[in-house]
Amino acid sequence: MAQVVLENVYKSFPHRKGDVNNTRRSESVNILRRINLTVENGEFMVLVGPSGCGKSTLLRLIAGLEDITGGNIWVGNSCINYLPPSQRNIAMVFQDYALYPHMMVYDNIAFGLRIQAGRLGEGEIGRGEDGEKLLHQLLNKFLKTAENLFVSATRKLPNGLRYVSDREQVVNEQVINVAKLLQIEELLNRYPKELSGGQKQRVALGRAIARNPQVFLMDEPLSNLDAKLRNQTRAEIVKLQRQLGITTIYVTHDQTEAMTMGDRVAVMDRGQIIQVAPPLEIYNRPANRFVAEFIGSVPMNFIEVKFQSPCLITKGDFRLTLSENWGNALRKYNGRTLILGVRPEHWNISLPATKNLPAQVEWSENLGNDSYLAVKLIETKFQQDYLASDELQVRVPPEKLVNTGEKVWLSLNPDKIHFFDPETELAIFPQSNSPTLPFE
Ligand SMILES: Nc1ncnc2c1ncn2[C@@H]1O[C@H](COP(=O)(O)OP(=O)(O)OP(=O)(O)O)[C@@H](O)[C@H]1O
Ligand SMILES: [Mg+2]
Repeated sequence: MAQVVLENVYKSFPHRKGDVNNTRRSESVNILRRINLTVENGEFMVLVGPSGCGKSTLLRLIAGLEDITGGNIWVGNSCINYLPPSQRNIAMVFQDYALYPHMMVYDNIAFGLRIQAGRLGEGEIGRGEDGEKLLHQLLNKFLKTAENLFVSATRKLPNGLRYVSDREQVVNEQVINVAKLLQIEELLNRYPKELSGGQKQRVALGRAIARNPQVFLMDEPLSNLDAKLRNQTRAEIVKLQRQLGITTIYVTHDQTEAMTMGDRVAVMDRGQIIQVAPPLEIYNRPANRFVAEFIGSVPMNFIEVKFQSPCLITKGDFRLTLSENWGNALRKYNGRTLILGVRPEHWNISLPATKNLPAQVEWSENLGNDSYLAVKLIETKFQQDYLASDELQVRVPPEKLVNTGEKVWLSLNPDKIHFFDPETELAIFPQSNSPTLPFE
């Protein structure tokens, strides 16, 4: 267990023929820019972001599979920038599991442990103080090599028929413990091709856990599983991480995983970390429009409105008076456009009124427990209704499902609204004298 600190981390790759985002061949492409992140000791950090934003590259830098271009990576008190992967004491679980196909499950789990044990043994050589001790050590080395040969000669045999050296005995205990923990004892003598996706996933986890690493890195480890198994394994990974208390960085682009697994979530966009916070804070107080749109299984809706001091927003005939604590924060937008953000679950179907928005249902979908409407706002011009370009997603209880083509009036929950600057797209938070923030 250890704290992981990323300090101004940069990564660039050389320009490749065919890349369009660079003008000159000699230039390199910046994939990660100024990444600063502290993952506390024992913390479960979820790294989330769209495809290509640099999540895997960041994990590979921490694991030592890629060279860092700038900045520092600290694990505990050590800067590990230039340590080879084998000396970082970090275990990584990959999306495709990366099991050794020619090894049984037992050996896949034992592999890293044997390397670790071998490295410890080698360290003893050469530390002798006199000739006799050195001779003794060399003899020991010879015996160990002979034993290793015997161990590997019998390794392909089923578990009970193998020659087990003292060192192998320790490895064996660890493999069995991990297999019990993950409930894969009955799979130890199988080859990866004889396993289902879920079983392979457990073996890959087992291999990582067995090494008792300081840090776990997981790169979309559940994406090859079907929905049911994914839910089940998601819960198991969280439980296991709590039990073992190993600092974990978990990459995903699955909304549910991001919201449910981590102590904190780091949201990435185009090589940068945009926001780091506990999942609910990210959901309730997104730092900018990108985070607001990306987090949430159905994205937040955005509508351009006009602001009039002290506390009024308008759009066509729609007028809504905001609570007072927005006044100060929005004052500089007086007479200007603002982006209003409303999550699909914070709309209600209501009665005609100027504080409600008229819309036409374009499409409706009943999921059993929930229903979603895709609607287009209606605006009035020269006393004629026309459909504005704003498209919204609205979540309604299934019994309130409305048919396609119908007109509805949408009210919004004023305590749950968000505003974003139209240029910077940064969120605007209500600065208030009042003790209660609308987001809390
Ligand atoms: N070895 C490389 N050489 C050049 N470019 C690379 C290399 N590895 C990754 N990239 C580029 O770096 C960017 C980030 O890739 P990365 O694999 O980290 O994304 P990701 O966030 O993990 O995406 P996904 O969710 O699809 O796995 C991509 O544009 C990719 O093309
Ligand atoms: Mg990736």
